[in-house]
Amino acid sequence: MKPTVYWEDGCVVMLDQNLLPHEERYVSFRDWRDVAEAIRIMTVRGAPAIGVTAALGLALAARNIPDAGFDAAFREACDAFAATRPTAVNLFWAIEQMKGTAASSRGSERADALLREALRIADEDLQANRAMGRHGAALLEDGDGVLTHCNAGALATSGYGTALGVIRAAVEQGKRLSVFADETRPRLQGLRLTAWELMRDGIDVTVIPDNASGAVMRAGWIQAVVVGADRIAANGDTANKIGTYNVAVLARHHHIPFYVVAPLSTVDASLPNGRAIPIEQRDPAEVTHIDGHAVGPEGVPVFNPAFDVTPAELIAAIITERGVYRPPFGFHRRNNPC
Ligand code: MRU
Repeated sequence: MKPTVYWEDGCVVMLDQNLLPHEERYVSFRDWRDVAEAIRIMTVRGAPAIGVTAALGLALAARNIPDAGFDAAFREACDAFAATRPTAVNLFWAIEQMKGTAASSRGSERADALLREALRIADEDLQANRAMGRHGAALLEDGDGVLTHCNAGALATSGYGTALGVIRAAVEQGKRLSVFADETRPRLQGLRLTAWELMRDGIDVTVIPDNASGAVMRAGWIQAVVVGADRIAANGDTANKIGTYNVAVLARHHHIPFYVVAPLSTVDASLPNGRAIPIEQRDPAEVTHIDGHAVGPEGVPVFNPAFDVTPAELIAAIITERGVYRPPFGFHRRNNPC
């Protein structure tokens, strides 16, 4: 599979994830504003992929901004990307990296330097996913049932995936796993994306409705939960797709380890705990409508948060590219998170 987002011939190209699994269409953008809009409407989604896309979008912007007035125009582009989705910190992390590169280069050199930086961010994410896979695979046993929520796979990253990277690495080591994918209402990333990705790789996957996760745990089918993250606070509290917290509570009740898999670019050490993580609120129609058809009564009030926060006390380990961190987590401590 081609990467979910990449640079080609002066364009940012991405797989339109809103069309999956029925259509595999790559769309190509020459204007950075369209790249920002693609993040907003979730043509591309998943925390690391959003960061990579913003970096490539800013590289695209830099090529088209004249030297005179560069700073103001580049700042405008950075602000536009920052306004697309509020929760995944990888987006803001990538924007900061790009701002740093813009500040340290000049003139004709600058656009090339920004493209190099965006490509470096993309490559570093792929390497981080492979490293997380190596570290995390050791936590899974041959024959395990593994539950995951949302899509934290190749589609959500530069490739290989975070949570799905751990599953892929364990399978590559010859372990037979049965993956259970929560459908992930309301946007169905589990059903549409995780199931599609794992089936393509020949990895055993069964989709369950979100409200079946307790039943499958009680049945003894699940030995581990692995999920990705959109933002991890200094104390290990973790924001991820809405419903992740429910799964973590259920896992604790059933004595099943709950693992978070994320690159260090997902850690926001400036936040002491998860209470300060901004949670994106999305269109009520995502809840009241299914496939464009109104299902709920017209005008019904809806609460539609895209993410929730799982407290650190429910997390057995956080797997990063640097290794497996066990509680108590302390990402504010320099160099040695735990
Ligand atoms: O709204 P989405 O689809 O962008 O949400 C994605 C998730 O919650 C993922 O689990 C998270 O970004 C980690 S992706 C490696």
